[in-house]
Amino acid sequence: MSLILAFETSCDDTSVAIVDHQGEILANVIHSQTQHQQFGGIVPEIGSRSHIEQIHICTLRALEIAHINLAQVDAIAATFAPGLLGPLLVGAQYAKGLAASLKKPLIAIHHIEGHVLSGYLQKDFLKPPFIALIVSGGHTALYHVDKNYSMQTLGQTLDDAAGEAFDKIGRALGFSYPAGKIISEWAQNGDKNKFAFPIPMIKHKSLDFSFSGLKTKALDVIKKHDLNNQTIKADFCASLQEVICLSLIEKTFLALSNLSINSLVLGGGVVANYRLREMIIAKSKEKNISLFLPPIPLCTDNAVMIARAAHLKLSQGKISTLEQDVFANLHIEQSYVLYDV
Ligand code: KG4
Ligand code: ZN
Repeated sequence: MSLILAFETSCDDTSVAIVDHQGEILANVIHSQTQHQQFGGIVPEIGSRSHIEQIHICTLRALEIAHINLAQVDAIAATFAPGLLGPLLVGAQYAKGLAASLKKPLIAIHHIEGHVLSGYLQKDFLKPPFIALIVSGGHTALYHVDKNYSMQTLGQTLDDAAGEAFDKIGRALGFSYPAGKIISEWAQNGDKNKFAFPIPMIKHKSLDFSFSGLKTKALDVIKKHDLNNQTIKADFCASLQEVICLSLIEKTFLALSNLSINSLVLGGGVVANYRLREMIIAKSKEKNISLFLPPIPLCTDNAVMIARAAHLKLSQGKISTLEQDVFANLHIEQSYVLYDV
């Protein structure tokens, strides 16, 4: 049995997981930072300090839950890119320290590869090649994943990520950060046809996304309507959610048909959205596409996905050095820079 202890600290969650060679989760500890809510977005320095306070506590907790000690861990993994530099450094340095003292291999992971591989080693995960749609607060992009799990970007957002659009519009509605889940809860009681929002990028044949035009339109509607009225607020949320989902689905199925691929993997915080899930399940059925949707707790940032991605890298002989740096930005095509071989 091979056990990987993994860390994910690229944003506002301190997450530590222990996952075995079959992908089974022995522990998955997440400390979510709530300190940012009053600021309406993440304050990197506050985030870094909280990660420093929490990472050791979360690690001890994970070892306790898994009923193992550090000597039983076979490899250490952490997110090294992309993300907020301070938070990334905390997880990366802690992982390097453990790898050095335990004399175990270090595996640096690209956060997006983690999202794509959140279901790797699970029975229902799909064999590559497949298309991956990753939708989060920082990213909205489509990838082609080849038979060796090499990833190539097909299209991405030209401005805001879908989660960022939810968060920024939610802020204007007075919702706390992150607002995606709150908007989806309001949407459950609303009429999705009440507000005629344009479906972003629907007329463009490229595989890129754009949500800033929708954001401007939504902020304008907020100014003109009484969003304190509960019914109007619910209708607004349902209509907004619908067009964001439609835009994501349109581009994803365009990618599948352009590349003649019939397997689809989703990941990222926005994939926790119930409407996106039900729409993508229905359309995949209709188009005969094999679909992998991560369970909701593994959509938002977590270290399980980092551990599972690390199991793949380990099986491919990819190991990182203790000198490995972190990167705020790193294209998925360049994730090879994280490995020594
Ligand atoms: O993957 P993630 O945890 O962090 C990033 O890597 O960005 O994604 C967080 C994003 C936030 O923008 C949040 O508003 C959004 O995911 N989100 C949702 C839902 N749950 C989380 N958006 C829509 N509906 C949801 N249920
Ligand atoms: Zn993420």
